[in-house]
Amino acid sequence: MKILITGATSGIGEQLARDYAAAGHQVIACGRNKTALQRLSDAYPHNISAQVLDITDAETTLATLGNYQQLDVVILSAGVCEYVDIDSFNTALFERVYEVNIFGMLRCIEALLPNLLAGSQLVLVGSTARLLPFTRAEAYGSSKAALQYIARSLQVDLSGRGIIVQTVSPGFVETPMTAVNDFAMPMAVTVEFASQAIRKGIAKKHTDITFPRLFGALLKVLSRLPQAWQVAISKRF
Ligand SMILES: NC(=O)c1ccc[n+]([C@@H]2O[C@H](COP(=O)([O-])OP(=O)(O)OC[C@H]3O[C@@H](n4cnc5c(N)ncnc54)[C@H](OP(=O)(O)O)[C@@H]3O)[C@@H](O)[C@H]2O)c1
Repeated sequence: MKILITGATSGIGEQLARDYAAAGHQVIACGRNKTALQRLSDAYPHNISAQVLDITDAETTLATLGNYQQLDVVILSAGVCEYVDIDSFNTALFERVYEVNIFGMLRCIEALLPNLLAGSQLVLVGSTARLLPFTRAEAYGSSKAALQYIARSLQVDLSGRGIIVQTVSPGFVETPMTAVNDFAMPMAVTVEFASQAIRKGIAKKHTDITFPRLFGALLKVLSRLPQAWQVAISKRF
């Protein structure tokens, strides 16, 4: 398969790139970090080609990704997380998070969509954070809630073209993104576990790839409670 991955220079995206390459697939690894990209293409010279890409740069993203054709799978994993300090509420923080998690992702879709053929798979990496009103997650959680809505609408609108849209909602995964967290991360999984769960879900064409299963199931149940209960529960975290 020919697979394009954004966020391939670190964490979940990098592990996916390595695992797909090791299995013999052709991977286009995208990210800003040139050293990490070089490391990947050195490790898998026949299977990984590196693409320097900053998805906040609209013009370059559209021009660069618009050149890729005949992709079987596109995995949009690039993302950032910033937590809100409620005592210095700041719109700029939301702009930074949305610029990557929403507008950056949308630019990738805009560039790639015209060349995606029937049967190709578009995989958007969201988060289980979208399911509950977690403390300090106003920006990150809402960006992932928006991603989920966009994906669900795309599932409707792209079905006629035969393009399969899938979402990934990880719980806590041990990556550089979460290494800075100063709180307990229940049921955290390794990046290898995450890659396996995602690759399995992609292979089975699952619409919603949520893992670890128990953590995801628990949050999905809680997300169906009345809003006041959800807030009361989240206050305890
Ligand atoms: N780790 C978790 O617990 C967890 C849980 C739920 C969801 N997720 C989601 O999973 C995805 C991957 O997260 P991770 O934990 O693997 O994070 P990570 O290790 O910090 O990796 C983030 C990736 O995003 C890329 N990126 C950030 N800004 C970018 C930009 N402007 N242009 C292009 N690429 C950019 C980074 O590449 P460069 O710096 O090279 O550009 C890097 O490859 C994210 O969407 C995240 O929200 C993670």
